[in-house]
Amino acid sequence: MADTTNVLKLEHEIMPVLTQRRSPRAYSDKAVSAGVVEQIFTAASSAASCFGEQPWRYIMGSQSSSPEAFEKILGGLLEFNQVWAKKAPVLAVGVAKLNFSHDGNANGWAKYDVGQSTATLAVEATELGLQIHQMAGFSPDALRAAFSIPEGFEPVVVFTLGYPGPASDLPAGLSEKETAPRARKPLAEFLFEGAWPTPAGERYDQAPV
Ligand SMILES: Cc1cc2nc3c(=O)[nH]c(=O)nc-3n(C[C@H](O)[C@H](O)[C@H](O)COP(=O)(O)O)c2cc1C
Repeated sequence: MADTTNVLKLEHEIMPVLTQRRSPRAYSDKAVSAGVVEQIFTAASSAASCFGEQPWRYIMGSQSSSPEAFEKILGGLLEFNQVWAKKAPVLAVGVAKLNFSHDGNANGWAKYDVGQSTATLAVEATELGLQIHQMAGFSPDALRAAFSIPEGFEPVVVFTLGYPGPASDLPAGLSEKETAPRARKPLAEFLFEGAWPTPAGERYDQAPV
């Protein structure tokens, strides 16, 4: 069933699943089945990537089926994320392979591509009634040590995965954030047709000499 909590209201109508995707901190205790996990990570593999490298790797830990891995990922989060992420049924680390396989050169788009695959799996999760919440608040060194992640690979994001739960389950402060209105920049602030915008009233091509 679709998560219809706090959907985005935008200037133009877009696919409903995109307005329903959100980053909850509250999760229900409903377990995420292996089949659902596989479907969501299969969606990740559908993303485009530079040279078709598919530089994304994911380490996942489930409270029900791989609790040791779950605890290791949780241990790599900064405390402000641990307080709520500990209740999620699944945690995952997105890891980038930093060099191209075909020539060994640095892949400057590896992290961009991990972002693309993670964004894609987030939409698949939403379509199935689940949500993810991505986090930059983690220690890459702690995760590298906990999972013996080799040189040439870098943890770039951690996220929760699960069925959303009631905001009232969260500690005070976080519950208000969960239901606070969501907003986005208007198109005019990030879509520029024809030229990069200049501040109103300024003409850089006519600057005084
Ligand atoms: C790369 C990245 C890092 C983030 N880091 C954190 C984090 O450490 N802790 C947190 O609570 N939320 C984190 N977020 C969630 C954002 O705050 C959230 O996506 C944003 O406020 C928009 O909300 P929405 O995803 O519900 O639309 C992160 C999101 C992204 C994409």
